[in-house]
Amino acid sequence: MEDFLSIVKTRRSANKFLPNIKVPRKDFEEIFNNLSQAPSCFNLQHAHYYVGESDEVIDALYEASYKQYKVKCSSATIIVTGDKDAYKNAAQIYESSKLLKIIDDEEYESMLNAINGLYESGGETFQHDEAIRNASISSMLFLLLAKNLGWDTCPMIYFDPEKVRTIFDIPENEIPVLMITMGKMDETSFRVRGYRKPSEEYVKYK
Ligand SMILES: Cc1cc2nc3c(=O)[nH]c(=O)nc-3n(C[C@H](O)[C@H](O)[C@H](O)COP(=O)(O)O)c2cc1C
Repeated sequence: MEDFLSIVKTRRSANKFLPNIKVPRKDFEEIFNNLSQAPSCFNLQHAHYYVGESDEVIDALYEASYKQYKVKCSSATIIVTGDKDAYKNAAQIYESSKLLKIIDDEEYESMLNAINGLYESGGETFQHDEAIRNASISSMLFLLLAKNLGWDTCPMIYFDPEKVRTIFDIPENEIPVLMITMGKMDETSFRVRGYRKPSEEYVKYK
């Protein structure tokens, strides 16, 4: 296992992957088991992952990404969605916490009231924003966990969400938030990292 800062510093968005390499299922299992530790609003776990690993699905995702070559040569291409209805599963999540005696009956009731109150009063806009926010937080952890096992990735938004929805049969309540290509970076496509602003430009202390 690499140390955390070296993973942060060496993660790059790959331009091109070495072809004909598959991600072993055990690597996905390790990534997804650890990914469940990601934070989410009220622990509602809004993010879902659809993994394209067969040639047929990767070809379809290549078309859905307007023929971005990094999809075609990827070992796997993943769609991350955010569930606008995640709050409707609060009872199930908090029931489990109650059974495990992490919370008592009173806390259970007050959590459900708080969650339903917030998501229902916030309406469609808030539910949409929550889906994007929580899937994005989860996706960043996915990129780092993949790198931790030696896999390169590229997060992408340039794809047709409706085509992707059809490929994986994604239900209407889930928003396709990000496409993530994954594989072993073809080092011949390596580019020096783009300019990064100094922290004084994007951090304010008061
Ligand atoms: C939300 C988001 C969307 C992105 N969409 C694309 C994309 O559609 N295609 C692509 O090649 N790269 C995409 N990227 C990768 C960025 O171009 C890349 O992260 C940025 O240039 C910084 O490079 P680095 O990740 O290697 O540090 C995206 C990154 C993010 C965070």
